[in-house]
Amino acid sequence: MDTTIYYFSGTGNSFFIARELKNLLSNTELVPIVKAIKENNFVTKAENIGFVFPTHGLTIPIPVKIFLKKMNVTNSHYFFAVATRGGTIFRGFPVINNVLKKYNKCLNAGFIIDMASNDPKLASYHDATKEKLDSLRIYALNKIKLIQKVIINKENYHNDDKTGITFSKNILLNLLLSRLIPFMTHFISPMVKKYFYADSKCTGCGTCEKVCLSEKIKMNGKKPVWQKNVTCYLCYSCLNYCPFKAIQIYSKIWMKSFTTERGRYLHPYAKSGEIAQQKSK
Ligand SMILES: Cc1cc2nc3c(=O)[nH]c(=O)nc-3n(C[C@H](O)[C@H](O)[C@H](O)COP(=O)(O)O)c2cc1C
Ligand code: SF4
Ligand code: SF4
Repeated sequence: MDTTIYYFSGTGNSFFIARELKNLLSNTELVPIVKAIKENNFVTKAENIGFVFPTHGLTIPIPVKIFLKKMNVTNSHYFFAVATRGGTIFRGFPVINNVLKKYNKCLNAGFIIDMASNDPKLASYHDATKEKLDSLRIYALNKIKLIQKVIINKENYHNDDKTGITFSKNILLNLLLSRLIPFMTHFISPMVKKYFYADSKCTGCGTCEKVCLSEKIKMNGKKPVWQKNVTCYLCYSCLNYCPFKAIQIYSKIWMKSFTTERGRYLHPYAKSGEIAQQKSK
């Protein structure tokens, strides 16, 4: 195998990118990061290694961090990463590069792809129109062609992140938030005991348990229960794949949640089975 693409995806955006890339590159395999963690499979074998994942709290998602911490890349020589995002700045490439430095290697190429947001808790979340989704898809497909070219030629490439939304015109406040938000995502959010709940619209169908990538959700009869001792990957698959929009996020002191008022998002080409298969042995 020339290339292995390790991917993580909550609602299909990153899965779509990883799959399209695989189709464009020869001799390439896709490995779900969730499955690799479950199987304790951290030794890379291919010459080229890619990581494709969503932006979570301006940085890499929790399972990607877990994978990076344990991986052994002695056998591999060219590395690229693709972060999909809803639109803010992305601060995760140095995190990946620092891990690779331990092996005297580096992140050769980093790409950012703007896609629809799957985070309806935010006040700024708007259901994307069909026109918006179509234009994002064309933009993504063009970006994938650029990524294909860079990888085939083993070029060094670093995405210009000038388009990412920052938080305020105040440079100091931006600097503070761009440090604080990744910290909240990796350290504070996993500690929050009551993050999700199912409201009265829940029918007990079990879809949330099926797609839950950290296996935090277990059905207790007709009721989903978020297990206290399991770390949530914050993939939001449960929230977005629930057919009845019954899953909500509690408001916190530091952030009001708008999930009861907002819609949900799924990539049109990702069925719940494709999300769930990331954890299949
Ligand atoms: C918990 C969480 C945090 C997120 N944080 C950000 C963020 O900081 N910046 C951003 O641009 N998008 C953010 N998003 C949106 C996703 O990065 C974006 O929709 C991504 O393409 C989803 O990919 P997926 O479908 O592969 O999971 C966040 C989504 C979730 C669920
Ligand atoms: S997916 Fe929604 S309706 Fe089905 S069990 Fe989970 S919360 Fe209830
Ligand atoms: S509880 Fe929901 S957000 Fe957390 S890992 Fe499971 S599906 Fe993802």
